[in-house]
Amino acid sequence: MNKYLLDHTLKIRVPIILFVILVTFIVTFYASRAERDGIGYTPDQPIQFSHQLHAGQMEIDCQYCHTGVAKGRQALVPSVNICMNCHTIARKDKPEIIKLTKYYEDGTPIPWKRIHQVPEYAYFNHSVHINRGVECISCHGDIARMEKVGQVKGFTMTACLDCHRNPHENLPYLEKVNQGPENCFACHR
Ligand code: HEC
Ligand code: HEC
Ligand code: HEC
Ligand code: HEC
Ligand code: HEC
Repeated sequence: MNKYLLDHTLKIRVPIILFVILVTFIVTFYASRAERDGIGYTPDQPIQFSHQLHAGQMEIDCQYCHTGVAKGRQALVPSVNICMNCHTIARKDKPEIIKLTKYYEDGTPIPWKRIHQVPEYAYFNHSVHINRGVECISCHGDIARMEKVGQVKGFTMTACLDCHRNPHENLPYLEKVNQGPENCFACHR
């Protein structure tokens, strides 16, 4: 390689290459941020169950189906039996209800796709939040208006800590509320 070419490479091409790599990295980092946080994940479910219809229009209480929220870690997704409390009668002839009845008669659980999830090494518990008056909407958005459930809020460590540090701003409907824990062992046990 002659001197001119080497100079050209070092002074112009290398900086350009580095610049392009850096820009690509930054753009991908920000563009994929929501996706990495799980925001926007709205999968098709095996049965087209509508929260807007059941929890919104019909005003069925969240805890009628998600029986675990006030008792423990998991909110729990209802088994088919709970659906069949109504659907042995309601809309029996509709295709989605025929599918539902088939799961019930076969005794197979419906393979609902899991949407919200924190990694295994982090500890989350519904009951401590629910029993202190934190509402579903503060973490899950307005589910009662969703035809199909999707994740609208991030569950990163930063998101947890933001509410734990500023509970009054994040939970304006609660008159009395303590700060949540910030020490590592509360969430990494
Ligand atoms: C009639 C039963 C029923 C009622 C009432 C109900 N849900 Fe659900 N919920 C389900 C079923 C079934 C699923 C799984 C399928 C889906 O995602 O739509 C689910 C899924 C969810 C999920 C997503 C779970 C995941 O995988 O991350 C959230 C969050 C949720 N419900 C919150 C609520 C809230 C908040 C209310 C009250 C406003 C409510 N639900 C009322 C049956 C119900
Ligand atoms: C408290 C009674 C009740 C429970 C519990 C209930 N449903 Fe329903 N559901 C209804 C009624 C009533 C309708 C019809 C509402 C309408 O169309 O105005 C309906 C409509 C539906 C439809 C739409 C049917 C169609 O095509 O018209 C689906 C799908 C459905 N429910 C699934 C479920 C699933 C899955 C569960 C359990 C997670 C469930 N429902 C629990 C009362 C209930
Ligand atoms: C303080 C925030 C917060 C509140 C309040 C909250 N959730 Fe959750 N929810 C989460 C997190 C975080 C996850 C993921 C948990 C995991 O991976 O173990 C989750 C998961 C779920 C799931 C799916 C997995 C499971 O635990 O069974 C359902 C269903 C659910 N929430 C329903 C509800 C309902 C209904 C309410 C209100 C009664 C509610 N949540 C209130 C943060 C919250
Ligand atoms: C919208 C507000 C809010 C969000 C979001 C939130 N928290 Fe909390 N958290 C609270 C409040 C309020 C308390 C209770 C403070 C008190 O009264 O002691 C609490 C308490 C806790 C506790 C202590 C439980 C105990 O045993 O006392 C843990 C652990 C916890 N949160 C984990 C999490 C994790 C993990 C996340 C994120 C996935 C999260 N929280 C998101 C508001 C929130
Ligand atoms: C309020 C709950 C909470 C507290 C307090 C907390 N964490 Fe986390 N942490 C989480 C959650 C939830 C995740 C998983 C989601 C994510 O990756 O952001 C996480 C992820 C992490 C990770 C994985 C790397 C990453 O960022 O993806 C590390 C390392 C970590 N925490 C260290 C700590 C240390 C050290 C402390 C104490 C200074 C701490 N955490 C306090 C909830 C908490």
